[in-house]
Amino acid sequence: MNNLLVPLRPEHVPDVVQTHLASFPGFFLSFLGARFLAVYYNGICSTPEGIGFCYLNASGVPAGFVVGSSNPRGFYSRLLRRHWLSFSLASVRAVLRKPSVLGRVARGFLHPGGNPVGNHVAGLYSIGVLPELQGTGAGKKLVNAFLFEAANRGCNRVFLTTDRDGNEAVNIFYQKLGFTLERQYQTREGRSMNEYWISVAKDGENE
Ligand SMILES: CC(C)(COP(=O)(O)OP(=O)(O)OC[C@H]1O[C@@H](n2cnc3c(N)ncnc32)[C@H](O)[C@@H]1OP(=O)(O)O)[C@@H](O)C(=O)NCCC(=O)NCCS
Repeated sequence: MNNLLVPLRPEHVPDVVQTHLASFPGFFLSFLGARFLAVYYNGICSTPEGIGFCYLNASGVPAGFVVGSSNPRGFYSRLLRRHWLSFSLASVRAVLRKPSVLGRVARGFLHPGGNPVGNHVAGLYSIGVLPELQGTGAGKKLVNAFLFEAANRGCNRVFLTTDRDGNEAVNIFYQKLGFTLERQYQTREGRSMNEYWISVAKDGENE
């Protein structure tokens, strides 16, 4: 079986969670744990405003993913309202280990600093490829599938945010794909972030 891109479905979520944990070691969402990530990715694929794709390896197992929303305005608040109990239960262990994560989760969902709003805009929230497959073109295919889908849903522009410091490879990756750095800001936790945008066209010809 050849590598394949498919829309993200609930049955892919366990492998997507493992890919997330492997590609984002030490990151906040990874600290929240596999259960929290499963609620998050299931939430995205169960809502019509979610966009998600999986990159299947030669054995048909998800080894990369990209997710986001074609309606970023209030997306995380709606996700939290729909799945508040599952998110709460999934966070318990992380909160007991580090109580301060509670405030950060609440801020992330209710006032996501890096979540610009506007009409006909999509947000690309998370992308990851298993370390052993990185550099083989999977990430590029995932981003292009995401942009194509966003355009088909009537979006004109797509944004994403990524760390500015210590993250040169990822910044180069997005720049090579045609994203333009339009804003820089600091999160409340002191992370310096880059906000990238790209225009997309409905015929799939990303500008
Ligand atoms: C970022 C990530 C998704 C990229 O996926 P990937 O499959 O490794 O990237 P690709 O192989 O598709 O590379 C696409 C282009 O970016 C370039 N690129 C990728 N990684 C690079 C690196 N470390 N340094 C320089 N260029 C790089 C490739 O050379 C390629 O350019 P080309 O089209 O001119 O050949 C992947 O590395 C990853 O999962 N990283 C960890 C998780 C992460 O940081 N996600 C992003 C958070 S915002």
